[in-house]
Amino acid sequence: MKRAKITIIGAGNVGASCAFWAVTKELGDIVLLDIPDFADKTAGKALDLAQCGPVDRFDCKITGTSDYAHAEGSDVVIITAGIPRKPGMSRDDLIQTNVKIVGSVSEQIARVAPQAVLIVVSNPLDAMVYTAWRKTDFPTNRVVGQAGCLDIARYRTFIAMELGCSVEDISALLMGGHGDDMVPLPSYTSVGGIPVTQLIPADRLSEIIHRAKVGGGEIVKLMGTSAYYAPAAGTIQMAEAIIKDKKRILPCAAFCDSEYGVGGYFVGVPCVLGAGGVEKIIEVELSADERKLFDTSVSHVKELVKVADGFLS
Ligand code: APR
Repeated sequence: MKRAKITIIGAGNVGASCAFWAVTKELGDIVLLDIPDFADKTAGKALDLAQCGPVDRFDCKITGTSDYAHAEGSDVVIITAGIPRKPGMSRDDLIQTNVKIVGSVSEQIARVAPQAVLIVVSNPLDAMVYTAWRKTDFPTNRVVGQAGCLDIARYRTFIAMELGCSVEDISALLMGGHGDDMVPLPSYTSVGGIPVTQLIPADRLSEIIHRAKVGGGEIVKLMGTSAYYAPAAGTIQMAEAIIKDKKRILPCAAFCDSEYGVGGYFVGVPCVLGAGGVEKIIEVELSADERKLFDTSVSHVKELVKVADGFLS
């Protein structure tokens, strides 16, 4: 069987953590790529990671480089290039810098890996997925953003902390953009099959939802930079679904046109992820209140895309 090839652009905190999760799952060979100024550092990270192989027993070739030729023929490309948040910044504050970075990276990827499925992680996420799509001109099913897997992991973590139960037993859904107005859906959240609304009182659940929404900011405040372990874990969950053609149902930033009446934007929705990338978008019923929250989140995404467009043209 052909080994999968995964290229990770941006070998910083999120990118290097993605490489780590990917090799420990033995998903395939890894190319870790960063700017020429960081070529040595990137090669060093790749070598360091390769030396975990004998201990953790994985056989993955790991290349650290600044040369896009190494990315040729990649099955999956993960874009983490860009600047992260500092305390006091919102994800939206990153837009001007990151549009340029993600735009130029995407053009180079389209050249060397035209068949890849692209997973975008750089922020502000929904606008960066749009940027990558515009610059690669890939079919929309092969461009997807990682946000929901992380946001839902935060939501599930806080529910498990509240109930003192295993995180594994919490199943949840979350929609909308990757901003503080994302929409966790208690009506689609269950714990061991039991609706969460039967286990946690409404006012307490609202507090948990709020903490999940601003969960990224909580970590920025504590660490002085944005989170990386959980964002990377969420990204590799998606990469694994694609490489192993698992048909997992995961919340991803996917291109919605008629779906949910969005009209041609990348927003967080439940998707079937497999070898074809986003193979299906699942449309779930939303209550009037949930629909209102979703629409608010989508209008925020539209505003961000307008700003990104201004920097792209
Ligand atoms: N090509 C390749 N790599 C680049 C480029 C470029 N044009 N521009 C910047 N990078 C690299 C940087 O050199 C750096 O190594 O991207 C890396 C970013 O790493 P960090 O600064 O550690 O940031 P990180 O925490 O990984 O976040 C990256 O992911 O979650 C988002 O909001 C986060 O937008 C941010 C991105």
